[in-house]
Amino acid sequence: MTTATHSTAAPSSTSGKETHRCLICGEGIRPFMTFGPMPLGNGFRRPDDTRPEYRFEMEPAVCPKCTTFQLVRQPSPEQMFHGEYAFFSGTSKRMGEHFRGFAESVRRDFIAGTDPFVVELGSNDGIMLRNFAGWGVRHLGVEPSANVAEAARAQGVRTMVAFFSPDTARAIRGEHGPADAVMAANVMCHIPTINAIAEGIAHLLKPEGVLAFEDPYLGDVLEQTTYDQIYDEHTFLFSVHSVNAIFGRVGLEVIRAEPQWTHGGSMRYTLCRKGVRPVERSVAEVLARERALGVADMATYDRFRRACEAQRDALVGLLRKVKAEGKRVVGYGATSKSTTIMNYCGIGPDLVEFVTDTTPTKQGKVTPGSHVPVRPHADFAARYPEYALLFAYNHAQEIMEKEKAFTAAGGRWITYVPEVKVL
Ligand code: TMP
Ligand code: ZN
Repeated sequence: MTTATHSTAAPSSTSGKETHRCLICGEGIRPFMTFGPMPLGNGFRRPDDTRPEYRFEMEPAVCPKCTTFQLVRQPSPEQMFHGEYAFFSGTSKRMGEHFRGFAESVRRDFIAGTDPFVVELGSNDGIMLRNFAGWGVRHLGVEPSANVAEAARAQGVRTMVAFFSPDTARAIRGEHGPADAVMAANVMCHIPTINAIAEGIAHLLKPEGVLAFEDPYLGDVLEQTTYDQIYDEHTFLFSVHSVNAIFGRVGLEVIRAEPQWTHGGSMRYTLCRKGVRPVERSVAEVLARERALGVADMATYDRFRRACEAQRDALVGLLRKVKAEGKRVVGYGATSKSTTIMNYCGIGPDLVEFVTDTTPTKQGKVTPGSHVPVRPHADFAARYPEYALLFAYNHAQEIMEKEKAFTAAGGRWITYVPEVKVL
């Protein structure tokens, strides 16, 4: 693993202040808050690991020209997505249903011809493509992590181990022909070199082909103060404004925008070459919502920073109060997002006894930076705490249905979305 942090363009100095360039359009971007040195969101480690912990300066910024919300610098991709990458998407039942719905809608609306071909970027363990495999639709997953790609192949999902690039796009087109649909879920926002990805997609698509992808939505982050969406893997938080700017550079436009519940608030964007398919009403509706939110105004981000500070103070105040009352608090779900919460708020083992998580590769480790032990669900169920801090709020419905015994025993949930509350 390398420890290099890189910012795309070398910062240039104007009147002694560093200027960082937009990853999309090259304009000088405006940082609006700093989280200080943060560990990797997914950097779980053994409690006896004494090596220095990797950290990077986490600083979100907005481009005044193309409106893209982005991190000023990010760790190299090799640092984050390697052979031992801990994240398998196929673990939650509700997520499986969600991706089935995504696959069904693309199949229904956009792949009408004979022998269609669907490509998914960052196809993970095949949670989405397995649907196309089941329907007998020609498909190909492009996945950089070898271990998750292997899991996909074991389910009959055709997968190549690669980072997608214009070269990869040319190779795929040469071997399989152009694609009717290119799909991605929670992938685009991770890729600093998205301009090259866009170029590859434009090359790979048929003239009437579509790009359909979804990612955490900037609008929800601003509305609900879910600043935990900001972590090393999320280079970007998109809006319809910025997606049109990014993909407009290669001749694509958003023709449909559909809000999703996943990941605490996401947006699904469907794009196609300009003028080829009608732009649906949902696009104007979401653009209006974004204008009302002020996604292009710097003042919006100053307000957002203040809202983050207020939410942090409220959460820490609540945790200190219940701790002073001698109550136990256990975190629920060792999410990547919770790394931002714990490190920004300074929540450690003094406030949260342990975090329970069902992922075997996280159990027995400690949380990144904050070093709170991660333990299996059995440890939570064996002796319920008075409070469970819901880090995995994006799975709130599934979790609360499952944990009726905890609330029946008098346990209470602590949430911080959209505000700090005891439920
Ligand atoms: P995610 O936000 O990236 O989907 O990660 C959710 C994390 O929460 C993952 O580490 C698994 C964990 N989790 C549980 O421990 N119990 C649950 O019931 C669910 C749904 C998730
Ligand atoms: Zn820009």
